[in-house]
Amino acid sequence: MNARRAGAGLLGAALTLGLGAEAAWAAEDVRRGRALAERLCAQCHMMPGQGEKRAANEIPGFVAVARRRNQTPEGIVAWLRSVPPMMPNHHLSQDELYALAAFIMTLGDTPKR
Ligand code: HEC
Repeated sequence: MNARRAGAGLLGAALTLGLGAEAAWAAEDVRRGRALAERLCAQCHMMPGQGEKRAANEIPGFVAVARRRNQTPEGIVAWLRSVPPMMPNHHLSQDELYALAAFIMTLGDTPKR
């Protein structure tokens, strides 16, 4: 019983460390980014069960995008700023780009199990 408690405590500590990155984001940016994403991006990027793209014509879900190795908010902003031809041009402002990147990055913090 005691050993099991200790194990749960360690797991809790690991989760807290893993979620620490989220706290670095201003809650307001994340909230704005989520609202924008739900309005502009969800129909392509936030489908239930959507994962990483496995074929050229697939669309990666935002959770998969956030969990890519070496993913950064700057990387997401750079992608959006390049106005990729396979995505609609949403004419996003600088603030909107960063809010979207902040929101997408928080999705990667969700425990995988
Ligand atoms: C009409 C569908 C569509 C909409 C709407 C859309 N996207 Fe995309 N997006 C795509 C497709 C298709 C790709 C995959 C491009 C590829 O890898 O060839 C993509 C890829 C991405 C990627 C990953 C880029 C990478 O590094 O592989 C990001 C980040 C992204 N979109 C963000 C957004 C955001 C933010 C919005 C809303 C403002 C949005 N998208 C709206 C279709 C869409």
